[in-house]
Amino acid sequence: MRRAVIAGNWKMHKTQAETRAFFDRFRPLVAGVQHCEIVIAPTFTSLSAAVESSRGTAIAIGAQDVHWESQGAFTGEVSAAMLVEAGCRYVIVGHSERRQYFGETDEWVFRKTRAALAAGLLPIVCVGETLPQRETGQTEAVLERQFRLGLAALTAEEFSRIILAYEPVWAIGTGRTATPELAAEAHRFLRERAAEKFGRAAASALRILYGGSVKPDNIGGLMAQPEIDGALVGGASLDAESFAAIVNF
Ligand code: 13P
Repeated sequence: MRRAVIAGNWKMHKTQAETRAFFDRFRPLVAGVQHCEIVIAPTFTSLSAAVESSRGTAIAIGAQDVHWESQGAFTGEVSAAMLVEAGCRYVIVGHSERRQYFGETDEWVFRKTRAALAAGLLPIVCVGETLPQRETGQTEAVLERQFRLGLAALTAEEFSRIILAYEPVWAIGTGRTATPELAAEAHRFLRERAAEKFGRAAASALRILYGGSVKPDNIGGLMAQPEIDGALVGGASLDAESFAAIVNF
């Protein structure tokens, strides 16, 4: 049985003060939650506020990116060990916004995933096709490539610790959610790739989250699909009530 994960990706939102205010409202709303893991990924500068505000709760904190080197002359970057020290348990890797706006490649995704795992972080690795790719029938080829170049060279032990997130780029921030059936189809395709490479048992233990305009009113339909093991939520994770409603799907 795969334990569900509901993760909030705050992207470039919320100051430290806004982070503390969110947690003050959010904590009581999810106090008794046991049916899923709750993750919040704030900006780097709000990590300390989030870690302090979630202490003693079941809410885990994640970062939104990581560099693959442990230290060095890499202006603006943050290493996996630094994230662990800051109190992170998770890290998002390969988000489509990083691929689109910051030139992140599948090769980088692989290096970052490995570095995160070596430091003991749990990477949430994002894959997904753009609208033109979907409309020209390339969805499976894109997912296959992202899986092969980003993840297939991990060891079996490394692979057992990752979480995959299927985020169709056309559904991110657009209000246009993939139907539960369409998302499940992509998840099945990815699980098949995992089975080919790492075997049936590893594939059936792999948690695959869906991301793209997840809201309180569509989470139920998504989570009713056995293939969907949780959600990676952007906009709707910024509001305590709406994110709590998603966590309590
Ligand atoms: P939205 O939920 O705002 O569409 O964002 C999804 C996402 O990119 C989560 O990583």
